[in-house]
Amino acid sequence: MDDPSARRLIRYGGSFFGETIVRARGSFVETAGGRRILDFTAGQICATLGHNHPRVAQAIRQALDEVVHLNSWMLSPPVLRLADALLATVPPPLDRAMFLSTGGESVEVAVRMAKLSTGRFEVASLTRSWHGLTGGVAALTLAAGRRGYGPVLPGGFALPAPYAYRCPIRHCDGACDCTCLEAGFDLFDQASVGSPAAVVAEPVLSAGGVIVPPPGYFARLAELCEARNMALVLDECQTGLGRLGAMYGFEIYGVVPDFLVLSKTLGGGIPIGAVVTTAAIEEVCHERGFVHVTSHVSDPLPAAAARAVLQVVRDEDLPGRARRAGERLLGHLWELQRRHEVVGDVRGMGLMCGLELVEDRDSRRPAERLGLALSEECERRGLSMNLVRGGTGGAANCLRMAPPLTVSDDEIDLAADILDSSLTTLRTAAPG
Ligand SMILES: Cc1ncc(COP(=O)(O)O)c(C=O)c1O
Repeated sequence: MDDPSARRLIRYGGSFFGETIVRARGSFVETAGGRRILDFTAGQICATLGHNHPRVAQAIRQALDEVVHLNSWMLSPPVLRLADALLATVPPPLDRAMFLSTGGESVEVAVRMAKLSTGRFEVASLTRSWHGLTGGVAALTLAAGRRGYGPVLPGGFALPAPYAYRCPIRHCDGACDCTCLEAGFDLFDQASVGSPAAVVAEPVLSAGGVIVPPPGYFARLAELCEARNMALVLDECQTGLGRLGAMYGFEIYGVVPDFLVLSKTLGGGIPIGAVVTTAAIEEVCHERGFVHVTSHVSDPLPAAAARAVLQVVRDEDLPGRARRAGERLLGHLWELQRRHEVVGDVRGMGLMCGLELVEDRDSRRPAERLGLALSEECERRGLSMNLVRGGTGGAANCLRMAPPLTVSDDEIDLAADILDSSLTTLRTAAPG
């Protein structure tokens, strides 16, 4: 990091980016030294409309003139209008919403409501999942951050992720047939103490290596949940609001969850999370004394920003844009796979794509050092991506690309050029 003050900050995982960022617009961030970097992480997958979108900026300015923050029981027009706008985007019976601050907090609320409404406490999540790191949801995040903090909440279960390139039950190769899901529920049923409450899942497992479940996966998961009276909680913190090429991932899979969780993409860079559920579940929870009051629940400023994001997503058909732009990006990545042996697998849906690096395609050994080297080389050439865990044993060998939904064709082509030239440069000295 170029600024010595960075040493005063608690390091919260990985290294800080090497240069200070002083400005951000659209798909680019700009360093103190004047370097423009193409941001294929959309901030932390939150800059849905690109950085500092004028409509979001305008909504924030208006909130500064009207009202920023309120007592948790006072409601304001931005929150009421956001509830109307958000619920207009989901199918029945989803028709109640609550607005919180972060993704972890929102998953937490969905799970608390699932426990309260079912009267049970066992919750399953997928291996390689990420649902947040705060106390309760840390039990459900299986991709990272588990060791060294003592016990997690009792009642957590793991279902094997449908990761066809490295099948967790050594059954499929390249095309998942959902046997992992059946096997996972066999294990769950044997280990359960008879208190099944919920399953929490991401429509595409993002931090766990951009794993795209096969068609039919979520329909079967919904059946398995229904058979046990478990609530299906879909965590669309990253995938919601168009990223996968539809407004929500659940539309693509043809299911309607009991709880939809949103955050990241909803705020366009401003912290806000949401839980959406049915009137029936809300009613039961309310009758049973549901309490989840936080300092920033129903705050007007983030709600105003989120409403602006929703309006732009709808007015500019950003789900359609994500679908077309995603096809372009995936086309480039497949071409890179044809030309570079180290690109073992290419995965993605809409504008959430990943490229898994291997030492060679026969052994599929995760090329972790190459992942880091490639990510650094791309950053030097002006492209930022997240390096996430794709391989076995927690190896970080997967580059995740999730640019703003407003990314242009030229920016996608530029990113592919940078990846290509970086791979070519590193090829001779491939560290493996
Ligand atoms: C799918 C998903 N859910 C929940 C979270 C947690 O969100 P937050 O970091 O805002 O608590 C994340 C964060 O990366 C996420 O990717």
